[in-house]
Amino acid sequence: MTAASPSNPIDIAELLAFYASAGVDEALEEEPINRFAKAPPKQTERAPAPPAPMRESRSEERPAPEPGPEPGKAAERSTVSFSLDASGIPDAPARPMHATAAVPDEGQVLLARQLAASASTLEELRQHMAAFDGCNLKFTAKNLVFADGNPTAELMLVGEAPGRDEDLEGLPFVGRSGRLLDRMLAAIGRDRNSAYIANVIPWRPPGNRTPTPHETEICRPFIERQIELVNPKVLVSLGGPSAKTLLNTTEGILRLRGNWRAHTTASGVTIPAMPTLHPAYLLRTPAHKKLAWRDFLEVKAKLRALG
Ligand code: URA
Repeated sequence: MTAASPSNPIDIAELLAFYASAGVDEALEEEPINRFAKAPPKQTERAPAPPAPMRESRSEERPAPEPGPEPGKAAERSTVSFSLDASGIPDAPARPMHATAAVPDEGQVLLARQLAASASTLEELRQHMAAFDGCNLKFTAKNLVFADGNPTAELMLVGEAPGRDEDLEGLPFVGRSGRLLDRMLAAIGRDRNSAYIANVIPWRPPGNRTPTPHETEICRPFIERQIELVNPKVLVSLGGPSAKTLLNTTEGILRLRGNWRAHTTASGVTIPAMPTLHPAYLLRTPAHKKLAWRDFLEVKAKLRALG
């Protein structure tokens, strides 16, 4: 293979196509940025700043950050993250608005639980999630991906985490796997007016990496409350990570799928839950579509039986 010429549009198109097929979908800086580095000392009025050298001016070209602590302070504060009052509830969200370092701490899990429990409507829950700064995924995502579909539907489906298309649109399952999910729903006579769709993780993990167990634990209270507020007759977990989180199991999805389980809400309501294969997996493994088809027929029959 010859090296691509940077000036030949055909070479460039081929290179971009190669990147796209390899899953490269983000343009990053050429050099890493040390976000732990101390902020440069503030210039005083008596010592006017010399003209900025080229390297520093590059960082000023990036979009201006929203108001928040200085970078050096953000890194310091994220290591001292919360304190508890007598009730065991964190007294304040200590994670700064623009923390660039992820320091997992139990305080954020407690805070997520407290916020989720205090939401009495889906809209309140959405607002609490939008204001929550305790999950580092929020800071690399473009949008909160809360839900799509009909919140009064008797069927709720929960995926793992948004991908690129979902992050851009702020809606779950709008990319390729979403189009397959729509066809799967259509096969049992449903669409987004008769189903409600959400994800365990509401922010896209950078580069579509697998969410860490800690990120999942931080987000768990939100999806659990979302299920409780929607209160569907039947829950479908799409893929292994969703099944593991919502059904509290470590079993693999190929063993789990097709068998009725139960999801129990914080208030003790038990919802029949069907674990099935994730549409993205089905796109890669079309021979298994027939398994998902069987699972969806089970769901259809259960909904009919429950009236
Ligand atoms: N995969 C998921 O699990 N969720 C989405 O919203 C999109 C793809």
